Amino acid sequence: MVHQECINCKTKYDIDEIIYFCKKCGDILEIKFELKELEQTLKASDWKTKPLSVWRYRPFMPIHEAARLVTLNEGGTGLHRSSRLEDEVGLKEVYVKNEGENPTGSFKDRGMTVGVTKAVELGVRHVICASTGNTSASLAAYAARAGLKCTVLIPSGKIAYGKLAQAMIHGASVLQVRGNFDQALEFVLKLAEKHKSIYLLNSINPFRIEGQKSLGFEICEQLNNIAPDRIIIPVGNAGNISAVWKGLTEFYDLGYIKTRPKMTGIQAVGSAPIVQAIKINSDKIIPVEHPETVATAIRIGAPVSWKKAINAIRESHGTAETVTDEEILDAQKILARIEGIFVEPASASSIAGLKKLVKTGVIEKDERVVCITTGHGLKDPDTAIKQCEKPIEVDADILAIEQALGLKDQRLILAR
Ligand code: F0G
Repeated sequence: MVHQECINCKTKYDIDEIIYFCKKCGDILEIKFELKELEQTLKASDWKTKPLSVWRYRPFMPIHEAARLVTLNEGGTGLHRSSRLEDEVGLKEVYVKNEGENPTGSFKDRGMTVGVTKAVELGVRHVICASTGNTSASLAAYAARAGLKCTVLIPSGKIAYGKLAQAMIHGASVLQVRGNFDQALEFVLKLAEKHKSIYLLNSINPFRIEGQKSLGFEICEQLNNIAPDRIIIPVGNAGNISAVWKGLTEFYDLGYIKTRPKMTGIQAVGSAPIVQAIKINSDKIIPVEHPETVATAIRIGAPVSWKKAINAIRESHGTAETVTDEEILDAQKILARIEGIFVEPASASSIAGLKKLVKTGVIEKDERVVCITTGHGLKDPDTAIKQCEKPIEVDADILAIEQALGLKDQRLILAR
């Protein structure tokens, strides 16, 4: 039977119990399937005939048969072979899995379609999250679709404008907390604990992770079930790297793929507790009290799923690396200019990480690498505009326009 299970002491909980932490040891939970049972369900299912999307993987989702799915068509994002990026970094095979192509512009939609479907199944009427922006945008949209009340707590002044616009237009109650994301998360955890009618949909909620594991499934299927050698992924609260690894592991255990990629997590220099733990080979993280980075989406000092992330990195023989804000912005511009893919700064950290790890020789020349870009560039137009040259303003006149473009006056050339 599919159930919830503590990642530490393995205590089991019913799939329909609203619970975020283990009652015995306080650690976080994950969803567990019995492999034999899953194999049977898959055999009886026509999932392979469905289009690439989160719900193609319906039998892998811990949702009851009768559920009404809350969906906006999430997943099925492009895996773009990036030959100009290959030349830029000096590798033979690089792909960009562009999660900005999801309905609200980030990978969060994969988790929210499952999380909000579960919320409806449980009969809750009010959902909540803390967010650096994308989670709030996504939750607000899916709550609107399901007719649920939605509250989001965001760090005041530290979320990109596009994301704020999304949460507001979808009708969420937006509280700007004078503090950072980690503090906002502590408050929503307390609220959900105190007021049982409020359902928490941060990535600590294991149903979110189930939806996001489809990212791992899709990458394998898009590469004809030959897993890449490495997946590079931006890390903030550490839910996504854990989710992708869970998906890969389920495919591996079912025999759909023969190997699993090296999970490679990237954090910004100013917010890198997981990288630090990996580098010093520690079993604990030391939270960063005042995280800072231009990549506001991953401006997180105390990632709640750190244990799952560290496990994914170690078990896969992967690694974790930091990148500077300058490297992030540079990578954002390069990807936009040589591949036509516009991503937000946090997402560009995977590209910056790729460059750095090739340069330092950690990534070998013949590796087949997938970089996950997590959110669309339009989420944060201010940062994009700041890094580019200002547009030239001209009079509404052909001569002025030609002059500005450095073109010769055609009449003069013809008259000669
Ligand atoms: N990239 C983007 C664009 C994000 O929005 C986030 C997280 C991450 C990467 C990191 O993913 O937390 O699963 O490790 N954003 C969250 C939010 C925290 O509130 O939108 P993670």
